[in-house]
Amino acid sequence: EFMREVTGVLELETKLKSQLNIKDVVVISGDSDTSPWVKFELGRACVKRIKSCLADRNVIAVMGGTTMAAVAEAFTPDFHDKEIVFVPARGGLGEDVKNQANTIVSKMAEKSGGKHRVLYVPEQVSQEIYESVIEEPSIKEVLTMIQSANIVIHGIGEAKAMAERRRTEAEIMEKITRGKAVGEAFGYYFNEEGKIVHKVRTIGLQLRDLNAIPHIFAVAGGKSKAKAIKAYMKIAPPNTVLITDEAVAKRLLKG
Ligand code: G3H
Repeated sequence: EFMREVTGVLELETKLKSQLNIKDVVVISGDSDTSPWVKFELGRACVKRIKSCLADRNVIAVMGGTTMAAVAEAFTPDFHDKEIVFVPARGGLGEDVKNQANTIVSKMAEKSGGKHRVLYVPEQVSQEIYESVIEEPSIKEVLTMIQSANIVIHGIGEAKAMAERRRTEAEIMEKITRGKAVGEAFGYYFNEEGKIVHKVRTIGLQLRDLNAIPHIFAVAGGKSKAKAIKAYMKIAPPNTVLITDEAVAKRLLKG
């Protein structure tokens, strides 16, 4: 804490917290874009926060991405006195296996000694197949658990980078570009004003569900994400705790 004081990150936290309409802000020194270990520090800070808000029984819904993978690495075996089930917050968004929520929740469970569930849904299906899939008992059970989550952890991505990484089809790519999307979270692509310009159709947690969830951790850092984070903060539910780095915090404070 002393180091955080002298390096000025505590001051950044205080200023940013009064600027953003969210529950809390945690700032880690450095820039995740240029220093890979900063992402792991974001992960550690997130795990520390989760620890402090655990109930006796917990359902933790988790999104995908490399930052969530870093959060998974930060889990420690000292969670055994609480009951925790990690569930993927949404069905596949087109990520590689290592970045998928299904992979990440299994890692979190392994590291913390908790349990996990998976949500495997076909990604590009017709409305008809989609509607019958979500009626499958095993899928329905996980969907019900997601709705009962007391904690949600998610990343925020830069729109173009995310759309490319997920090999988004040309037509959708065009829609995202035309809509001037700057950021992405939960499969929603939004512009600078926070207006949704595209939504990936998958099952699980939707943005509107977040208001009912007591603890939400948005973990994202690196100056390349500053615009995306700034825009997401316009639509972030008030229960959100933002865990970010110094590079982003400085840019957000500049205006
Ligand atoms: O939705 C946001 C992305 O999952 C963020 O991915 O953590 O790899 O930048 P990332």
